[in-house]
Amino acid sequence: MTTTTTAPMHTSSSLRVIVAVDAESAARMAAERISALIRTRPTAVLGVATGSTPSPVYRALQTLRRTEGLDLTRASAFALDEYVGIDPRRSQSYRSVIDAEVTRPLGLDPLRVAVPDGSAPDLVEAGRAYEEGIRSTGGVDLQILGIGHNGHIGFNEPGSAHDSLTRTVDLTPETREANARFFDGRIDQVPTRALTQGIGTILRAREIVLLAFGPGKAAAVARALEGAIERSSPASALRKHRAVTILLDKAAASMLG
Ligand code: GLP
Repeated sequence: MTTTTTAPMHTSSSLRVIVAVDAESAARMAAERISALIRTRPTAVLGVATGSTPSPVYRALQTLRRTEGLDLTRASAFALDEYVGIDPRRSQSYRSVIDAEVTRPLGLDPLRVAVPDGSAPDLVEAGRAYEEGIRSTGGVDLQILGIGHNGHIGFNEPGSAHDSLTRTVDLTPETREANARFFDGRIDQVPTRALTQGIGTILRAREIVLLAFGPGKAAAVARALEGAIERSSPASALRKHRAVTILLDKAAASMLG
């Protein structure tokens, strides 16, 4: 199933793995796929992720905006997740990250960009409203994903049901440790809970592109693609979907059989 190539990505009726020459070229492929979607459907709904992995995709989209006139003004976007209780104006909030990396540089209409409301007084209602918001746009056309070291997608930690919807979750110590780098290295500053799209929410996207770079992601990628499809492996749920592309650099692909 693994393709060692720089070949163009295409959507297929199954999961496709592309090992690109490097992260930048993988990111460019993802950006070109988004650009092609927007050309055919300017009002497309994008699912956007945070973390360091998708950043080069957003930078590649900026380049396409500059060089090819990619126009995202009519597109909508839904973020995957947000920390519970964080002030959305803080730079570490996913609201701020999406504003800084997606909405502003790519010229999306801020009114068409949604992030789960992790400071809502009623988080159950906030989760329900988020699901409804996605549904009311007709659903996500293309979801960009990263993957955590423990195989999480969004903030769906191991043990998450594969049909889960937007809800609050407890973050594992390893996830908080991994994200401490965004909080001056202080794990005690990393919120303990998040409001995240569920795995079931993610699987409703019509197309999914997961990116993973670096040796630290190799084990999670191998388990997701070649291990059992089970709750302890959140990203393994992607194998139930009909149109998934996994874009890897060589290091992230190094443990694939
Ligand atoms: C966070 C996010 C995930 C992301 C993961 C990996 O936990 N909630 O959406 O995929 O981190 O982040 P990175 O790409 O920085 O390794």
